[in-house]
Amino acid sequence: MSTSGPTAPDAVAVTVRTSPPPSPIDTLCLACDGPACAFSVLPMQRRALGDRDVLVDVKYCGVCHSDVHTAAGHMAGITGPVQYPMVPGHELAGVVAAVGAGVTAFAVGDRVGVGCLVDACLSCARCVSGEEQKCKRGNVATYGGKDAHGRAAQVPEGRQTLGGYAERFVVDERFAVRVPPALPLEAAGPVCCAGITMYDPMRVAGVGPGSRVGIVGLGGLGQMGVKIAAALGCEVTAISRGVAKRAFALECGAAAFVDATSDASLADAAGTLDLILNTVPVYHDYLRFQALLRPRRERRGLSGAGPPRQVLLGLHVGLGGAFVAGSAVGAARSRVAASGIGGIRATQEVMDLCASRGIAPDVEVVGADEMHRVYETLDAGNDAGKRFVLDVASLREDAAETRAKLGPPPKLQRVRRGFTPWRVLGEALRLLCFGHWWR
Ligand SMILES: NC(=O)c1ccc[n+]([C@@H]2O[C@H](COP(=O)([O-])OP(=O)(O)OC[C@H]3O[C@@H](n4cnc5c(N)ncnc54)[C@H](OP(=O)(O)O)[C@@H]3O)[C@@H](O)[C@H]2O)c1
Ligand SMILES: [Zn+2]
Ligand SMILES: [Zn+2]
Repeated sequence: MSTSGPTAPDAVAVTVRTSPPPSPIDTLCLACDGPACAFSVLPMQRRALGDRDVLVDVKYCGVCHSDVHTAAGHMAGITGPVQYPMVPGHELAGVVAAVGAGVTAFAVGDRVGVGCLVDACLSCARCVSGEEQKCKRGNVATYGGKDAHGRAAQVPEGRQTLGGYAERFVVDERFAVRVPPALPLEAAGPVCCAGITMYDPMRVAGVGPGSRVGIVGLGGLGQMGVKIAAALGCEVTAISRGVAKRAFALECGAAAFVDATSDASLADAAGTLDLILNTVPVYHDYLRFQALLRPRRERRGLSGAGPPRQVLLGLHVGLGGAFVAGSAVGAARSRVAASGIGGIRATQEVMDLCASRGIAPDVEVVGADEMHRVYETLDAGNDAGKRFVLDVASLREDAAETRAKLGPPPKLQRVRRGFTPWRVLGEALRLLCFGHWWR
């Protein structure tokens, strides 16, 4: 419903929307049609605004490596088949365009971000304590998820959730965060996934001044990890393949740099770290980084529960194995742990931290017609270490022209070790035997 303001003789009539549009909402999306990740711009729909829904005019959406994993079907062995066309994107930043009648947290014109979750039960102990990502009844992912608790309905009903490579997005207000004015919108989206994924394990470990934190892999997550840890007062060691990113790491706030391909460089840093956050996106010999941790008895620099440990964040069999093995021995003993994103409260916390401390990811803003190049670059190892961010305005350009400019599908490497339940169990057993729980 719309109302018009009073029309004085030479006043311009102003139309003010007082209630949400009643029917499904049209949106252009950048969608891929199969695991080859061939993208095109497609018209799709969002649900009509519910009572506590917010309609977001998306301005930018970060491209996380998880988008590549999901679109390419790397995770299908665990998460089930991907429904195509699928729309990735869980680092959205935009402006509120309309709100449902029951929305209290946001108003039209507010700047907001949306991360990896769009729903959870909101009543289990974990949800109530602000850990919606660990909801006992299952959270609903921003893309590729299924509406399970009634706040993530799709059009048509029952289809998997559609992510943020799109002009418009509808989300329950409890799954959006406020973007403070100090943070540019193109920098805010990556805070909603990369930022919170790095911040949450630091928060849990209780790192702060005096803590020594190692970050393995300087890509979208890793660079945010270095910046956030440095802002928290930690002494940060960046661990990267080769030395090409040394200057970048120091600019981000690292105090030390380790070349992960050099035994001598690794040996120099042995026994120095309280916490290692490993962001490498492919299965690799992550146990060799255990030698960089302080021995179990030395817990200087950590105020949270648990011994010095390596936390795996990259989505590969190692993360699944660490999760299962950690559950078996108890989180308090685990020297190799797994972590997944973070809750909404912590996401707002890290957003505010980034705004107040001037932390922004190094981004490259790209048009829709560059998405194949971006996927190829991430899959090949993200050698520049940047976060690519989609400029959503580019979706409005001529769809046929965009398709032509995109060219053939990206050339992606085959996954070296598929993510399946059996492989996860095998990895958990390996970790229980060789995960150095006792050291
Ligand atoms: N657990 C969670 O909740 C969560 C949340 C978000 C993302 N993720 C996952 O975290 C991983 C990283 O995401 P991202 O967006 O930061 O990726 P990214 O931008 O592609 O960066 C990954 C970095 O890892 C290193 N790397 C890449 N390929 C490698 C290889 N073959 N061997 C060793 N190192 C390699 C590179 O750093 P160097 O050049 O410095 O070595 C690269 O810059 C992905 O698997 C993503 O799905 C997990
Ligand atoms: Zn992500
Ligand atoms: Zn819950």
